[in-house]
Amino acid sequence: MQALTTYPRTALVAGMMTAGIFALTRCVDRARENVQQVRSVKKPPAYADFAGSATCARCHQKIAASHEHTAHFLSTRPATPAYILGSFQAPDNTFSYDSGMVVRMEKRDSGYYQVGYFHGEEKIAKRFDIVVGSGAKGQTYITRSNNRLYQLPVSYFTAAHKWANSPLFPTYPVVFNRSITSRCLECHSTFAARISAPRADPEEFDMQQMIYGVDCEKCHGPGARHAQFQAMNPGETRGKYIIHPDSLSRQQNLDLCALCHGGRLHKTTASFSFTAGEKLSDYFALDTTAPNPENIDVHGNQYGLLRASRCFLESTTLTCNTCHSPHENDRGNTELYSRKCQSCHSGQHDKLCKLASDIGPSINRNCIDCHMPLKASRSITELVAGNSRPTAALIRSHFISIYPEETRKFLDGMTQPKHEYKRHVQRNP
Ligand code: HEC
Ligand code: HEC
Ligand code: HEC
Ligand code: HEC
Ligand code: HEC
Ligand code: HEC
Ligand code: HEC
Repeated sequence: MQALTTYPRTALVAGMMTAGIFALTRCVDRARENVQQVRSVKKPPAYADFAGSATCARCHQKIAASHEHTAHFLSTRPATPAYILGSFQAPDNTFSYDSGMVVRMEKRDSGYYQVGYFHGEEKIAKRFDIVVGSGAKGQTYITRSNNRLYQLPVSYFTAAHKWANSPLFPTYPVVFNRSITSRCLECHSTFAARISAPRADPEEFDMQQMIYGVDCEKCHGPGARHAQFQAMNPGETRGKYIIHPDSLSRQQNLDLCALCHGGRLHKTTASFSFTAGEKLSDYFALDTTAPNPENIDVHGNQYGLLRASRCFLESTTLTCNTCHSPHENDRGNTELYSRKCQSCHSGQHDKLCKLASDIGPSINRNCIDCHMPLKASRSITELVAGNSRPTAALIRSHFISIYPEETRKFLDGMTQPKHEYKRHVQRNP
């Protein structure tokens, strides 16, 4: 801070002494520019600034224990049997391509491998090194070759409990060398150190400096100093040198989630420069096109869609954290999510669902399927039991709105009289 304020002042004084008013203006401009540069070249976090969640767990045991079950923690993991969900037992360990290529998942002495056979002859074998995906929809896998990372051709699909061709991969030829970029890791991990030149492809990483999963320090900022301070000052009951999201503004909280849930962002600085509490637009050219509720991708622009919803536009407090508890795995708990809706839409407020009286009290258990329906993803595909090819995965739309078609589907599944809803649906074409 000191350096930031003295630099421009010195420049200003020097400018006043040596030149006329025109030069002065230019000088002030340059001084302002300098301040901006000092700020924008703020050192990105280094590996040494992080403590790792094993350290956080020593003092925040309860949070750490529940965080281990979240999709965030599981989003990237080392490829150990505890994390790879697919089978290595014949006959379930095989995926066959039309071309005659067969990929088998095999356990060998040095780890787990995807082995490519052509007419029974082994052609290629690559080790599973990193698991990507908690398995909510599926998992894909990374193999490393020295400092380079490549996505493997066969992925695991949870709904069908099967191996199949990785999403958007060609089926001929079968490729084992699709490179993994730092942007991919920026959304699926907490830290990775890129060591290759800026535009080198494939990129190279220092594998000793990788922090798996969307971990504590992605949301609370690098915490080595906090962990050290609290350990040295055990009597201190207040946390220092760490970010509590409750102390951030609404936009700062949203920006943190939008880093990975904000659709197509184009980075303007190196990956992993942004940290919690900062302004996303200082690091990325944001996606400002109005989101299309029918296109929920890359992979899911929850931020863009939420931002277009009336709940968001007409309240001053709604953020992702209103509905999502950061350290819990609440997947599938529709009733819990519906209670969050009712924190604003309840008897005390005037905007109550117009179907409440038709449906009765059971409406309280599920606001979600009618107002946040599942929509097909274009980039996440899923292999469903009985299908030979993956189909689009269904993702929860965050455009909270009125969907007559979903209402019809929902009510058709109920035993209630249906004349009432027809009236409602017709009013909202
Ligand atoms: C040596 C013990 C210790 C370690 C290790 C530790 N913390 Fe803390 N932390 C504390 C104490 C004590 C507090 C203050 C009491 C509280 O809020 O629980 C605190 C507070 C916090 C807070 C709330 C801050 C606030 O302003 O209220 C967050 C967030 C936090 N820690 C995150 C972390 C993370 C992330 C890590 C790992 C990088 C970590 N802590 C490691 C002891 C520790
Ligand atoms: C560093 C990137 C990153 C940040 C920051 C991030 N997320 Fe995520 N989030 C992910 C990824 C990746 C997944 C998918 C993980 C998986 O299933 O493998 C995910 C999954 C989720 C899920 C689905 C959980 C489930 O059970 O399927 C929710 C909800 C979520 N994030 C909310 C948030 C919220 C709220 C914030 C901000 C406080 C946030 N995320 C910040 C990357 C991130
Ligand atoms: C902009 C951030 C972002 C980027 C870049 C990104 N992902 Fe994701 N990924 C997510 C989020 C968020 C989810 C959770 C689903 C959702 O939001 O719809 C997810 C879900 C997934 C899943 C499904 C996980 C599960 O448990 O079902 C896989 C597999 C995956 N991503 C792989 C990749 C790979 C491989 C790359 C790089 C080629 C990549 N992703 C790039 C954010 C990202
Ligand atoms: C996806 C982002 C995210 C991740 C990952 C995350 N947190 Fe948090 N954390 C939050 C948010 C948001 C809050 C504030 C809201 C709340 O307390 O629920 C919070 C609050 C806290 C607090 C303060 C609780 C209180 O009662 O004041 C502590 C301590 C904390 N987190 C520690 C951790 C630790 C330790 C980990 C890893 C094991 C972790 N967090 C992982 C987002 C995250
Ligand atoms: C932070 C408060 C808040 C929360 C939480 C909230 N809403 Fe809203 N919602 C609003 C406000 C404000 C409006 C606009 C004014 C009104 O209708 O009261 C609105 C409007 C709506 C509308 C009308 C939309 C339209 O396009 O006409 C629906 C439907 C709705 N909310 C459903 C939900 C559901 C379902 C949830 C839970 C998943 C939810 N809301 C959570 C505040 C909230
Ligand atoms: C009004 C409540 C509400 C708000 C606000 C909200 N979500 Fe959600 N979110 C939900 C519900 C409900 C689900 C579905 C949960 C389930 O199926 O178990 C969900 C699911 C998700 C998923 C998993 C998507 C999937 O289908 O796999 C992600 C990722 C996610 N939310 C991220 C976010 C982010 C990021 C924000 C902020 C931009 C946010 N959510 C704001 C209610 C909300
Ligand atoms: C069976 C599907 C269904 C369920 C379940 C449902 N809604 Fe609705 N909701 C609708 C439809 C359809 C409308 C539009 C009705 C109309 O305008 O006549 C609506 C309207 C609304 C509105 C706008 C009211 C207004 O005056 O503009 C809000 C807010 C709302 N719902 C909230 C909720 C909440 C909160 C829940 C859970 C407690 C919920 N809904 C459950 C279908 C549903």
